Amino acid sequence: LYPDPDFDLNKFNECVAERRAVLDHQNKDIAEALDLLREYWSLCHQTVTDERRALAFARAAAAVKCLPFKVTNPRQLKGIKDLGDGHALRVATQIVESGHSQEVEEKRNDKKFLSFQIFCKVFGVGPSIAKKWYAMGLRTAEDVKKRFDQLDVSKDNMISYGVAFYDDLNRPLQLVEAENTYKHITALAQRILPSVVTSMNGGFRRGKSSGHDLDVLFSYPEREHNEHGLIAAVRDELDKKGLVVWSRYSRADGPRGVEIDSSPLPAGSAKDHLLVIMIILKYPLDGHFDQLERRDFSTEKNLGLFQLADSARPWRAIRVDLVGSTTTQYPYAQIGWTGNKQYNRCLRQYAKDAFNYSLSSTGLYDKRQHRWLPAQTERDVFDHLKLSYREPWERNF
Ligand code: GTP
Ligand code: MN
Ligand code: MN
Repeated sequence: LYPDPDFDLNKFNECVAERRAVLDHQNKDIAEALDLLREYWSLCHQTVTDERRALAFARAAAAVKCLPFKVTNPRQLKGIKDLGDGHALRVATQIVESGHSQEVEEKRNDKKFLSFQIFCKVFGVGPSIAKKWYAMGLRTAEDVKKRFDQLDVSKDNMISYGVAFYDDLNRPLQLVEAENTYKHITALAQRILPSVVTSMNGGFRRGKSSGHDLDVLFSYPEREHNEHGLIAAVRDELDKKGLVVWSRYSRADGPRGVEIDSSPLPAGSAKDHLLVIMIILKYPLDGHFDQLERRDFSTEKNLGLFQLADSARPWRAIRVDLVGSTTTQYPYAQIGWTGNKQYNRCLRQYAKDAFNYSLSSTGLYDKRQHRWLPAQTERDVFDHLKLSYREPWERNF
């Protein structure tokens, strides 16, 4: 039945977290169809059932991406856990048999879905705002721009920037652009805190050659982290250079240094120390940050100016996530911020089901023994979970 004689359906079904999915997998048509239905239900959902539907399609798509052979016969789809025996299996079967699914094509061209897709491509907009805009009669990105004043969005809101920089932010960020920005940010952080460790996470670490943003993870010892507030310092430095268009900094209030000293396992307070900052950087098109036009962004009233400036500008806006983690959290933060999202969902579910562990990007907590499991590397995390190690590029669920 299977072209791959080593393929063992029982083993494939036994543990989803053991599967590997490379970007260049063998069932792109089926996965694309199932991912479209996932996107449809996650954007256009009305009820909790619809949301569950989206998750079911996400699992089904992931399963197909993990198959180590190209499906040529619908019988090869039978019995695959996560593909189920209903909707997803039916669609996958249609694609294998005829390369076409009526339902997928109808949804793909669904007017409401198309508008929701456009709206959700505005930075800061999710399904609930999309729904509101749709109900107001908006349909296109042009409508949003034209009727922005009626949308009840304050000028300093991230959505204002999302609209103003719609084209920039929907232009894929290329690997080389991400790498240049990453190096620049790393050098800057090292000047502030020489012991800092950084990594470029997200899709690029999984092997993608372009993406919607750059995800930079920082790691530093607990104490230094508290003294420096490194992410804020990095943001301020970037701001000084006139590179920040918009940023939102959040920092959970955790125990102060003194208290941390008395806490033997800092990972226990892990969650409190996660720093997340989202930055839109002006990305210099020529690759040289110091040749940038300087601008004062401390007041956001220049919005209209941004909107107009879409020709012959020396820079464009890109999305950057800067994430801080302490040394003890680092391997967990790496897994969490490497993604992809569905892979992490699956890992977290497995940790809960198999061991009653709670896995997050700040640590792994054993709920029975009431303790945090320490890890030096990502491999340690896989060991804790009794899973084979998976390379980042095998995590493209
Ligand atoms: P592109 O950016 O589109 O190329 O894909 P990506 O996989 O890099 O997506 P994204 O940058 O959105 O997320 C990267 C990883 O970080 C994913 O695994 C997300 O689940 C995770 N992530 C994103 N936002 C958050 C967040 O607010 N908190 C945590 N803990 N994880 C997040
Ligand atoms: Mn990313
Ligand atoms: Mn991101």
